[in-house]
Amino acid sequence: MKIPFLSFNAMHSHIKIEIMQAFEAFYDSNWYVLGKQVTEFEQAYANFNQTTYCVGVSNGLDAIHLALLALNIGEGDEVIVPSNTYIATWLAVSYVGATIVPVEPDIRTYNIDASEIEKAITAKTKAIIPVHLYGQACAMDEILQLAEKYNLFIIEDNAQSQGATWNNQITGSFGHANATSFYPGKNLGALGDAGAVTTNDAFLADKIKVLRNYGSNKKYYNEAIGHNMRLDECQASILKVKLNYLTDWTRQRQTIASWYNEALQNIGDLRLPFVHDNATHVYHLYVVRTAQRDALQQYLTKEGIGTLIHYPVPPHLQNAYQSLGYNQGAFPIAETIANSCLSLPMYPGITSQEVSLVCKSINDFFKK
Ligand SMILES: Cc1ncc(COP(=O)(O)O)c(C=O)c1O
Repeated sequence: MKIPFLSFNAMHSHIKIEIMQAFEAFYDSNWYVLGKQVTEFEQAYANFNQTTYCVGVSNGLDAIHLALLALNIGEGDEVIVPSNTYIATWLAVSYVGATIVPVEPDIRTYNIDASEIEKAITAKTKAIIPVHLYGQACAMDEILQLAEKYNLFIIEDNAQSQGATWNNQITGSFGHANATSFYPGKNLGALGDAGAVTTNDAFLADKIKVLRNYGSNKKYYNEAIGHNMRLDECQASILKVKLNYLTDWTRQRQTIASWYNEALQNIGDLRLPFVHDNATHVYHLYVVRTAQRDALQQYLTKEGIGTLIHYPVPPHLQNAYQSLGYNQGAFPIAETIANSCLSLPMYPGITSQEVSLVCKSINDFFKK
């Protein structure tokens, strides 16, 4: 039996009729950019995310970029980011011309180590971008305390953690302006690119609305050098349907994680996800670690089991960031994670039998 890393089949077949109806309504509306669908989705996602405002944008990378622009962060400013994240977090900082200041993660949670942030703060620091990686919320109380002490902005990168919580508060509601991604494989995924910024600040929400739309809030009148970074009506109409299922899908992901947790106890040097007592994990990814990662991945591939590595090369070692001058060893914790992490199949609809098969194959590999 083949077990893919990700399959949309179960999720999408269940809601196909509703999605087709939503698509038809969008199609027949004759209105395709910035209309009723976007406004209704923004309202629904703001409600879900317990923020006053949500601004739908083109993707998660643009969401971070727009948040930085709206906060006037640019050249001469420093922005603290995790050393282990998807490169988008770093790219957005580069786009506005600010300086990237990487901080290492906690090796247990893989999220930015809040106790390491203070050392990285200088007179030029303007913002911290905590990334709720793999689906687990960062230690937000410590991060918020630092932001208050040093008068810094917080921009959460919530691309991977829609619905996760820290001390019962939902991620994407802590920072000044928070980014999320609705890339198809995300916990809430569109059928194409999409993203959003969530905020409780009316001024920032308005500014981001203007910046996403050519710097305009009145057709053909432009008050800023803005961008075309809009969420489109088609994706919004689909996201509106899918949002109704997100809580159920999250529960399924948590159940699947519990199957893995149970079946993968005490196997060789295999490390399972660690969830902080104050955090919830929505398992965008179920990431294990082992020194034999590459061999394990090859073995599982031969067994017909799909896995991925999130991420094989940390941003500081990417060719794109050669100019920053970081060598191997600059961020050893990020490098250790990159060299040892493996994401197992995780998606609503994977069955307990399939998960058992994955776990049996992992067991067999370690027995050899
Ligand atoms: C942590 C993180 N930040 C940002 C992004 C960027 O999102 P998008 O692919 O929608 O631009 C992603 C998604 O790929 C991500 O995983």
